[in-house]
Amino acid sequence: MKICIIGTGFVGVVSAAVFASFGNHVIGLDVDETKIAKLKKGVVPFYEPGLTELLLEEQASGNLEFTTSYETAIKDSEVIFIAVGTPSSPTGQADLKFVWAVGESLASYLQKDAIVVVKSTVPPGTLPKLEEKIRARTKVKFTTAAVPEFLKEGTAVQDTLHPDRIVIGARDEKTFEKLAALHAPLKAPIVKISPESAQMAKYAANAYLATRITFINQIADLCEKNGADVQEIVEAIGYDRRIGNHYWYPGFGYGGSCFPKDVRELAAYSRAIGEDSNLLNKINDLNEHRIPKLLDQYDKIVGGWKRKKVAVLGLSFKPNTDDMREAPSLKVIPDLLEKGATVKGFDPKAVPIVPFFLQEHKNATYTDKLVEALENVDVILALIEWPEITTYDFSGARHKQPQWFIDSRNQFNKSQIQNWGYTYIGIGRP
Ligand code: UDX
Repeated sequence: MKICIIGTGFVGVVSAAVFASFGNHVIGLDVDETKIAKLKKGVVPFYEPGLTELLLEEQASGNLEFTTSYETAIKDSEVIFIAVGTPSSPTGQADLKFVWAVGESLASYLQKDAIVVVKSTVPPGTLPKLEEKIRARTKVKFTTAAVPEFLKEGTAVQDTLHPDRIVIGARDEKTFEKLAALHAPLKAPIVKISPESAQMAKYAANAYLATRITFINQIADLCEKNGADVQEIVEAIGYDRRIGNHYWYPGFGYGGSCFPKDVRELAAYSRAIGEDSNLLNKINDLNEHRIPKLLDQYDKIVGGWKRKKVAVLGLSFKPNTDDMREAPSLKVIPDLLEKGATVKGFDPKAVPIVPFFLQEHKNATYTDKLVEALENVDVILALIEWPEITTYDFSGARHKQPQWFIDSRNQFNKSQIQNWGYTYIGIGRP
């Protein structure tokens, strides 16, 4: 099948490479010339394990191309995916300006019976508006559909190759059939529903996962007051098959490009339709305030943050990505600096943006060598579970009394950290 994917972010590039690997001819389109120039040379403009190899392979096979020209990308495409960003607007609702711009730009090159598929996370009601914008510019007959994306950064290639399900939101059997055929090599269950349900399903999945994380964070807070250990709670309740213990660790709250944005959007959408008192507002508030609350709490334990030297380990929002969108480091570091601490930041990959962020303050430095970040620090704050951090031998870094080790995601063996002589501070652990 000839397909085109508009928007070359995580979702766009990974989907393009995976569809190409199934023998489709895929053109990736972006208006960002620098990004396209890199992609044409086989360079992925962000860090995502396994993606460069797949990209190079598919480019070499001739199945995958990149362009900045709408005409080249659209004129022969049977299926056109829109995978552009939908950032939060000041009201919290999704700002759809990029989706509209794409619709307007592609309209005049559409071929007959093409399917325009929105992969971006958008609210129900988006497709009729998009159709209107396209119809105002072309007489060609086309259809639209919503196929939301559920991949996770850091495991994006594997998630796309082995999805739990494919959700197709369409209004007619012909569109369902064509999109089901395109996704058939993935051998995943296909859920055929209306576009509105598909769009709500994406929001609901992310909001549910964010709620689950917030819930266990709340339980962790209670454990800290009563001597229970939240890790033991997760194990104990996880045996209940209705609950399970997978993908469930307490910590400093959720970050990244999806959960915070999607929860805020769903909350704003609820308010906009008159559902003012909704759980999602509260989830968002709890997550927003989690880091300042924990840092205030630790202030007492470490004897005041003022003049403390802190190694902040892990600056990206999670391991195996250099993405810093809504990363905990972006809240932790300014807060620590404000409290009078000195910060040494370390990350194995989130390098390019970090110096820009840290250079602005004389008390914050950055290194890509863990050992350097640990020199003469009072507090080690293990923020992100990069394997480089969780498997590191911290025994040699303890140089004086007292020295604290904050395990912000309960990733370390508490007894080992204590045996090395640190005062261990975990989440929801006695
Ligand atoms: C998420 C969804 O998982 C994915 O389905 C959707 O398409 C996009 O949003 P992503 O943001 O890439 O993916 O990462 P994910 O691994 O889900 O983590 C999101 C945030 O939640 C991270 O900050 C992570 O540290 C945090 N998290 C996750 C927890 O704090 N506890 C958990 O148990 C799980």
